[in-house]
Amino acid sequence: MNNIRRKPILDVLREKAPKRIPVWLMRQAGRYLPEYREIREKSKNFLNMCLTPQWATEITLQPIRRFDLDAAIIFSDILLIPKALGIELDFQEGFGPVLKELDGEKSIDDLFYNAEIISAVFETIWRVKTALPETTALIGFCGAPWTVACYMIDGNSKNNFSRSKTWVTQQPNILQKLIDRLIDASELFLKAQIEAGAEIIQIFDSWAGLLSGVDFARFVIEPTRELVRRLKKNYPHIPVIGFPREARENYESYARETGVNALSIDSSVDLEFAKQQLKSIIPLQGNLDPTLLVKGGKEMLHAAEKILTILGPLHIFNLGHGVLPETPPEHVAELVRFIRNFHT
Ligand code: CP3
Repeated sequence: MNNIRRKPILDVLREKAPKRIPVWLMRQAGRYLPEYREIREKSKNFLNMCLTPQWATEITLQPIRRFDLDAAIIFSDILLIPKALGIELDFQEGFGPVLKELDGEKSIDDLFYNAEIISAVFETIWRVKTALPETTALIGFCGAPWTVACYMIDGNSKNNFSRSKTWVTQQPNILQKLIDRLIDASELFLKAQIEAGAEIIQIFDSWAGLLSGVDFARFVIEPTRELVRRLKKNYPHIPVIGFPREARENYESYARETGVNALSIDSSVDLEFAKQQLKSIIPLQGNLDPTLLVKGGKEMLHAAEKILTILGPLHIFNLGHGVLPETPPEHVAELVRFIRNFHT
């Protein structure tokens, strides 16, 4: 049996019946784990943690040691690309990320991608890869061009990206220029992650839901399609998972047109709709409500059972968004055990 067939998540991504339904959780490493908070305390700042391979490796492995998960996702952040493009970036306690916002077309001309600034990520990937159990796959990631552009244009998420939305309608060609730069940088970033050992790529488009109609087609679908095309040209065997969060009626065209191998769906997506309209196109990932993981107990298990019954077994179990910081780790353990013991 070759190496690839031993990892259930890779089976699903290649549309082969998996030995068991694979599970991993977005933000499976993070503040809900006491051992994460311990390193967070020592490191003083979040960026330091991402850019120090010993710490980032340790944090990536923390949830793998605790729970029987099918994939590790490398501990880093989608905002490392703006950083590598020379943008000042800070993560403020209790506020989230703050970037020096772009100042029109001229500031886009000044963006140059310097992989050196974030090369720690590649070392982390290499270190994690050598430490993972052989059935656990390693996921690399980036933010989609639109979502990363939102942070670069608005500087933070506190105004619901109103400036970014203004660029869509009032200066789409300048936005396009930024998106094109981000496609180039993301291509380099992801290819280096694959070279370092990432076996799956996930593209996070957290703010895809801000766009609809032709804007969604132009700034969500088109850049993702181009990025996937460039990756597949060099690495046809590396599966890509797309997560256009809150894409609502646009999930379907995203699944059909971007070339991704699987679609991650948020918790608002109806399971019957997902089964009929989306799963018939490509395998799905998701979509337990992260607040149910905070609650735990019967309500969580009942919701998990529904997902497994309706979407399994060719499915990647996950949440509809990231693990919340107030989640009790025992609930994650309970959920993973339940999935392991579930038989259709
Ligand atoms: O375990 C994992 O999922 C891997 C690590 C990971 C992080 N960020 C670590 C992180 C991943 C995949 C991301 C992706 C990311 N980063 C996204 C896309 C997914 C999503 O959540 O929609 C976005 C939009 C970002 C940007 C970002 N980074 C924000 C908005 C914040 C602050 C919000 C928050 O949760 O505090 C971060 C910080 C961040 N990235 C933390 C972690 C664990 C919290 C850092 C801390 O305070 O300790």
